[in-house]
Amino acid sequence: MISKVTVSEARGVDFIDRVVQLRGWVRTRRDSKGGFSFVELNDGTSLGNIQIIVAQSLPNYETTIKSITAGSSILVEGLVKKSPAQGQATEIEAAKIELIGESDAATYPLQKKGHSLEFLRSIAHLRVRTNTFGAVARIRNTVSYSTHRFFQESGFVYVHTPIITASDCEGAGQMFRVTSLDTDNPPRDNEGKIDYSKDFFGKPSYLTVSGQLNAEAYCIGMGKVYTFGPTFRAENSNTSRHAAEFWMIEPEIAFCELSENMDWAERYLKRLISDVLLERRDDIEFFNRTDSTLIDTLNGVISSQFVRLSYTDAISILEKSDKKFDYKVGWGIDLQSEHERYLTEEHFKSPVILYDYPRTIKPFYMRLNEDGRTVRAMDILVPRVGEIIGGSEREYRLEHLEERLREQNLDIKTYNWYVDLRRYGSVPHSGFGLGLERALMFITGIGNIRDVLPFPRTPNNCDY
Ligand code: 4AD
Ligand code: MG
Repeated sequence: MISKVTVSEARGVDFIDRVVQLRGWVRTRRDSKGGFSFVELNDGTSLGNIQIIVAQSLPNYETTIKSITAGSSILVEGLVKKSPAQGQATEIEAAKIELIGESDAATYPLQKKGHSLEFLRSIAHLRVRTNTFGAVARIRNTVSYSTHRFFQESGFVYVHTPIITASDCEGAGQMFRVTSLDTDNPPRDNEGKIDYSKDFFGKPSYLTVSGQLNAEAYCIGMGKVYTFGPTFRAENSNTSRHAAEFWMIEPEIAFCELSENMDWAERYLKRLISDVLLERRDDIEFFNRTDSTLIDTLNGVISSQFVRLSYTDAISILEKSDKKFDYKVGWGIDLQSEHERYLTEEHFKSPVILYDYPRTIKPFYMRLNEDGRTVRAMDILVPRVGEIIGGSEREYRLEHLEERLREQNLDIKTYNWYVDLRRYGSVPHSGFGLGLERALMFITGIGNIRDVLPFPRTPNNCDY
């Protein structure tokens, strides 16, 4: 019986002296003068390829094997042998090779020499066949699975919050509109404005920027919940850290105040990193070749205790520093990426949790502090990436929430259901959101969010 195995399995020693069948995509073929060809095969299951030794005496050598080029898909049967070569435990002595799908060498864009990340962005449908994007895809998968394991093991219930919504969670007006109206010729009201009462939902609707408000509803009743789904922001900021479509993990915890919220966030982030270090060691070592401080940094994060610092103290550190910032520092400003990175990369050289931000720069749902001018917000900042997590204790007191909605000119009617949560059995509760892509950038050391999303959506880019 021939075992069907993956490249990852065949690279281990368990199958030595067994005949196996493998299927995958050819990375390279090299012909030697000694009567053998060498094929490097990858099937996505590991960073490493398996080397196939092909005797040129195989019956279909001239007709088939010679047309096996980079990118083609093949089936291989053969014996797994201990490899004499360095860097691989095993190799396959092919008894049979079939070409499944050919790949025109003259036009296949992936060459052995390696390509820039910028070039690979222009072939997002093929880039997963490179070492870098294969590794990102596997780590992304591990982080997702680890997320579910962490929250499930901690007694959280996974909630699917809606993608289409009428409420702007962050109150920042950066939403993509969803409509079924004929936008070339929309119905108009008496004043000539577009009449959304004729739209699909009878009112304006949007893609969600966050599942938080709905998660809060389930939290007040289920105790501990989390959502994990795509979120959308039409902020036209063409940076290396913002995408128009990104994935967010948002836990929401009842009977939980801000400092406990920070504990959850810190534990969760550390768990993601340690799972990746354990389970995707080969891929992380690959990224460590580009940035040799990566593994040390990640280990440092797992074993450190994150610095916890109030916004007010952070401002005074920034004001006292000799660093020249582009944006002027002063109490009340929204911290810019340069400020956040100074704190985490230069001043503390560690992840930092900033808390108690000015009420004027944070959304309506955050609990007002006794001082009346700050809210119980918390952001986690990490080196290279800056803000990786944003969260808060929620305003659970009815009057204060209504006041905050008014203060931010939000339509109380739209948020009435949300305010109800404060009318019936309200409890202190907290939560946070981790941007999955920011976590991946931190873990892999990749500097641009476009390279940790399979098919990134950014301004002027909705290909594939
Ligand atoms: O800080 P944000 O806007 O917080 C919220 O959305 C809250 N509703 C979360 C909560 O308390 N449940 O976003 C949370 C995180 C950020 O820290 C960042 O990691 C990521 O989401 N993020 C983005 N990631 C990629 N592209 C963007 N445009 C992002 N905007 C936010
Ligand atoms: Mg934020």
